[in-house]
Amino acid sequence: MHLTTTIRNDMEQVKSFIEENRERFLNELFDLLRIPSISTDPEYIKHINEMAAFLKNTLEEAGVDRAELFSTPGHPVILAEKIVHADLPTVLIYGHYDVQPPDPVELWETPPFEPTVRKTKNHPQGAIFARGACDDKGQLFMHIKALEGMVAMGHLPCNIKFIFEGEEEIGSPNLGTFCHKYKDKLKCDVILISDTSMLANDMPSITTGLRGLSYVEVEVTGPNRDLHSGVFGGAVGNPLQVLSKMVASLKDKHNRITIPGFYDRVVGISSEERKEMNKVPYSAEVYMSDLGVRALNGEKGYTTLERTTIRPSLDVNGIWGGYLGKGAKTVLPSKAFAKISIRLVPDQDPEEIAELFISHFKSIAPPTVKIEIKRHHGGLPAITPVDSVEYLAASRAIEFTFGKKPIPLRSGGSIPIVSLFEKVLKAKTVLMGFGLDSDDIHSPNEHFGIFNFFKGIETIPYFHAFYSKMKFSKS
Ligand code: BES
Ligand code: MN
Ligand code: MN
Repeated sequence: MHLTTTIRNDMEQVKSFIEENRERFLNELFDLLRIPSISTDPEYIKHINEMAAFLKNTLEEAGVDRAELFSTPGHPVILAEKIVHADLPTVLIYGHYDVQPPDPVELWETPPFEPTVRKTKNHPQGAIFARGACDDKGQLFMHIKALEGMVAMGHLPCNIKFIFEGEEEIGSPNLGTFCHKYKDKLKCDVILISDTSMLANDMPSITTGLRGLSYVEVEVTGPNRDLHSGVFGGAVGNPLQVLSKMVASLKDKHNRITIPGFYDRVVGISSEERKEMNKVPYSAEVYMSDLGVRALNGEKGYTTLERTTIRPSLDVNGIWGGYLGKGAKTVLPSKAFAKISIRLVPDQDPEEIAELFISHFKSIAPPTVKIEIKRHHGGLPAITPVDSVEYLAASRAIEFTFGKKPIPLRSGGSIPIVSLFEKVLKAKTVLMGFGLDSDDIHSPNEHFGIFNFFKGIETIPYFHAFYSKMKFSKS
């Protein structure tokens, strides 16, 4: 029988299984979303552990051979596997069960950990509103349910392994060590991740690149204590004003980052590639009106899409100091702070960029202040070549279930562990995400389309089937 016919017959059964279990899958996802697995706040450790135990259990119920919980110096990692045959290729699925804090909670229309279904412009069939619905609990859950369907119908075209972590949103501080330690258990042919977005439900796309990240926090100290702004103002350098000026100087009038050497390793892309990527339908008007801004701002000479994908960027994430309470207090503060994230593109290196930032920032400080800089997490950029078997399998799977060939597109976000996985496990990554950029991940009212959730569960078995066949015929 023709390849796609066999695959279609097998997977149609899986699809019917999903259809029959729709309500149950949704209810189970809701249970998962009710657990506030916030990784950054130690107060929530109980829920992190609850979440990890829940996932181990769910994986076992879905039909894996074994699921194990591993403690780390931070949050637990869950490994599970369904081994069909040693000769079959192995797909490793990665996801993260931790979520961002829901703050500011008052801007949520319904409570962040009480999943609720509402329709939206982009989700006319309804979307599930909850923190983590799209990033990433809803998306990792699709993989568990896809496995459940394949096991129930007896159509497992490959071996499947799972690794779920609870520290992605804080930079995966323990996963690198874990990955080295258990690299035999994690042995695989390809890494499959659903933690990114698509262009639109009627315009599927596959993420072919992620930006890297370098994150720093600066502390500027002026006088040794807070001062009366009348008694001392005018004679003493104000660290908040010094910091503002320094931060403002990090970009020039063309919005290029002014750190010497910053662009040295940036790999340009060919004009054909640029032309190709800019064919994606894009309306500046729609983009601006969605964001509530009257104008856009970015590096001269590049389109909005280019600015957020193939070009690096630098943003202040928070800046504070002095009196922040009610009313007015006349004070000349002793200290000022800023958190700064720098997104990187190939071949920039997060360590090198952090060093360049630190020496530049210190060099531009006036003698009135002292500067201290702390490094937070970082990660390398990653790229999936569009001519790889890995990419093509995802492309065919999506074409099958969406009825449209997906567009390859780089993303501006970061998943720091991807490049490490690729190095240690010597396998390529496929970023087959089913969210939309309008799903408000990290923001109030995060949601995930019900259409997207089920389309994901339906598409994943096709990926396994196509990948398995393509890998076989290659080797
Ligand atoms: N899932 C996101 C990354 C993402 C989102 C990639 C949308 C592509 C499209 C991930 O959970 C995330 O938020 N990553 C962080 C990095 C981390 C070190 C905090 C990010 O990109 O800010
Ligand atoms: Mn994520
Ligand atoms: Mn995230």
